[in-house]
Amino acid sequence: MTIVATAPGKAILLGEHFVVYGTGAILCAIQMYTTVSVTPLDAKVRISSRYGSDEFQLGTNLDQVPPHHRPVMHIADELGLTTDVNIDSEIPPGIGLGSSSACCVAAAGAMLGCKRDGVMDAALRAERRVFGGASGADTAVCLAGGIIEFGKSGSEQLGGGDEITLAVASTGGEHSTPMAVEAVRRTRERDAGGFEAACEQVRGLIGDARSALDSGDLVSLGAHMSQNQKLLAGIGVSDVAADKIVAASARTSYGAKITGAGAGGCVIALVDDSNESKTLDAMRAAGGEAFAVRVDHDGLRVS
Ligand code: MEV
Repeated sequence: MTIVATAPGKAILLGEHFVVYGTGAILCAIQMYTTVSVTPLDAKVRISSRYGSDEFQLGTNLDQVPPHHRPVMHIADELGLTTDVNIDSEIPPGIGLGSSSACCVAAAGAMLGCKRDGVMDAALRAERRVFGGASGADTAVCLAGGIIEFGKSGSEQLGGGDEITLAVASTGGEHSTPMAVEAVRRTRERDAGGFEAACEQVRGLIGDARSALDSGDLVSLGAHMSQNQKLLAGIGVSDVAADKIVAASARTSYGAKITGAGAGGCVIALVDDSNESKTLDAMRAAGGEAFAVRVDHDGLRVS
């Protein structure tokens, strides 16, 4: 029997990088998806995706598995499943929209054959084994869908989101999240006091943004996202291309910032019907490949 699981990508509205140091973050799932199907197979694991098709025995050293298939192999191995895995993703890799987390969540959901029990743990263990110290925020929102506040004690589903559209612009090129996280670790080491002060500000922004979300106040939510961008630029995870798109889209939207690890990924701008198309135009004129995306409310689906 074939089991099919679909998980959404994500955008981080506030708190990336700082969440690794305990500030929490607010994230939303987005209507871009990765679908993983699994069918039992004798004696081996076959993984097929846009990167090609590979076959392995259970217990194969992960170093021998091509990087993009390692997390899925890790999950199959842990569960002791010989299976034929097909990965079909519309989420561009390496630009901060949650392609790895969506893949891990969908793979764990398909292999466990369920939406919740054990999926978060299996997906996060795979991400941490392959990519290092992920906070778990991305995994949590790809699993839950909607808008969440992710914190030390887990994640809380927030209301709203129907009014939110994000204009998204890729600056071009893929980034490495582990490298960006490592660069921030070094920045923090050089100036622990300055970094903690920024964390404190992020905590304040997250608290205020929750109230803005509760009351559907896009002007206030956008202003907090723009404030967050200043703090992200301060720890060095924005770059010239992103700065240019942020500046252009901040003029037409409610607020703009990078999303995810930065260092060559995506900029998001908060918009609604009144300013969506002029913000997309502004992003394109500033050099971004831009599109609009809305919030996914389902999270992981398994059938
Ligand atoms: C990456 O999408 C988000 C980071 O905060 C890393 C993490 O939370 O694991 C940069």
